[in-house]
Amino acid sequence: MKKIYKALNIISNNSHLFKCPVCGSKMSILDSPTLACDNKHSFDLARQGYINMLLKSNKTKYDRDMLKSRSIIAKSGFFDPMLQEICDLIVKKAGFENTQAKFILDAGCGGGSHLSRILTTLKAESDISLQGVGIDISKGGISIAARDYEGIIWCVADLANLPFNDKQFNVVLNILSPASYTEFSRILKDSGILIKVVPGKDYLIQLRNIFYDRTDKKSYSNEQVIHLFTQNFNMIEHKMCSYNVALNEISLRHLLNMTPLTWNVEKEKLEKAIEMGIREVTADFHIIIGKKF
Ligand SMILES: C[S@@+](CC[C@H](N)C(=O)[O-])C[C@H]1O[C@@H](n2cnc3c(N)ncnc32)[C@H](O)[C@@H]1O
Repeated sequence: MKKIYKALNIISNNSHLFKCPVCGSKMSILDSPTLACDNKHSFDLARQGYINMLLKSNKTKYDRDMLKSRSIIAKSGFFDPMLQEICDLIVKKAGFENTQAKFILDAGCGGGSHLSRILTTLKAESDISLQGVGIDISKGGISIAARDYEGIIWCVADLANLPFNDKQFNVVLNILSPASYTEFSRILKDSGILIKVVPGKDYLIQLRNIFYDRTDKKSYSNEQVIHLFTQNFNMIEHKMCSYNVALNEISLRHLLNMTPLTWNVEKEKLEKAIEMGIREVTADFHIIIGKKF
């Protein structure tokens, strides 16, 4: 079956999740591969198997090239210990005690590899039915996700105006991406959990030491981000996850291409970093979990 029809099937089976991002009314699938609301605002499915529900096109620095490198780095296992920690925390904290289907949203999912990996791990550990939904504002990122992973609803959307009804999701993931706490709180079930990942102070410190030596960007703190989280959600867990990852020259190039840390760095400095032959970097994350107040 063509990707677009597989995506149509999954969206059709889960159309209760969606609300119109224009007028807020209920949505359903029309015969043509389109999701439309009662007021006739309609959104076509792309033949690659995703739906674009963004109201105006946006220019983002998170383009296909960057998110492709991110996806390659993710597939190499760079994020695996952090993702395993997230799976363990979901099992402990999400309270999946009954057998009803559970819904997991990844808000700011990029190329989709984290969500796919988390769902695969959770499905191997339990027979609860899980439906994943990944949204990102980058069409490039979502098209990579739809190309690589089937069985998940992939949607181009703004996390500040989520096209979903209230209280639909058991878990919202927000990994290294901006947050909209009002929207996360609205779409989470009362018993649901929000899992946010933010970089720790040693995240990619080897790159920071090269690019930001003697500037205020050399050291890094996410205290304010965590403080904002605690003002919007009741924090029930705060874990650190740190480890070192080995690199070769190809993975170093993809790492430099995937991180916003290099956005304002001149080309010569990037080449210098490659010549220096960095062979190990530190991954350092805060994993914070919150429930609705
Ligand atoms: C650093 S990337 C992280 C992507 C992915 N979670 C990961 O860890 O590889 C940040 C992501 O947030 C997305 N993003 C930024 N603003 C957004 C918004 N308003 N709505 C949805 N996604 C957004 C970007 O397009 C990008 O994919």
